[in-house]
Amino acid sequence: MIDSHAHLTYKAYRKDLRAVLERAREAGVTAIVNASFDLPSSEAAVRLVENHDNIHVAVGVHPHDAKALNLDVLNTLEELADHPGVVAIGEIGLDFYRDLSPRRTQEDAFRLQIGLAKNLNLPIIIHDRDAHQRTMHILKDEKVSRGVLHCFSGDLNLARQGVELGLYISFAGPITYNGKKAQEILKWIPEDRILIETDCPYLTPVPYRGKRNEPAHVKYVLKRVAEFLEKPAEEVDRLTEKNTRTLFNLPD
Ligand code: NI
Repeated sequence: MIDSHAHLTYKAYRKDLRAVLERAREAGVTAIVNASFDLPSSEAAVRLVENHDNIHVAVGVHPHDAKALNLDVLNTLEELADHPGVVAIGEIGLDFYRDLSPRRTQEDAFRLQIGLAKNLNLPIIIHDRDAHQRTMHILKDEKVSRGVLHCFSGDLNLARQGVELGLYISFAGPITYNGKKAQEILKWIPEDRILIETDCPYLTPVPYRGKRNEPAHVKYVLKRVAEFLEKPAEEVDRLTEKNTRTLFNLPD
């Protein structure tokens, strides 16, 4: 399994990252893609990749921090992305649920970082919370064709539009809470576009809901996706791992 979206630089793991990574390895996690959310976490991500095998990282500024994205920051992200362990720009996008940066500022930061990803020939990791229509509008307007709609929370129609653009759709812990909508999407979605993730330390899947999340728990997301697809977990494991390696151009 690959956890296609984790936040290992969070202070939640400051004390026991080594044990967390060991549990992931024991659970069968072969690689982790670590997503960033601001400049310090992007710098920390690059340090992380230097100290661990099988961790790959994205650098970028989350919509919550969009107001911190200026040209200096953009240039620094570009320099960081020079590191061979950087496989994507993210997470970037729009968050109209918490609105921690003005919406106009979020949109500017999103478009600037899409431009950066295109210049660097990297895929993007897209955060979209309560901003489905606007996110899709920008993705189409900017002609984005490489990326993932992470922790997908939209409906079938939105998933269709994403897949038409060439994007992947990633599922996280919430599909173990209820998942009716995800089930409908999974029945339709082309198999070669499905990813799984934890988004840890958040969104812990059942049966650990309420506790801190970690990459080892991606197995519960995998199990749920396999149930919805009515396929053996081993098959969905191979499939999602291959998809993740393809999107982020990871070595086998
Ligand atoms: Ni995230």
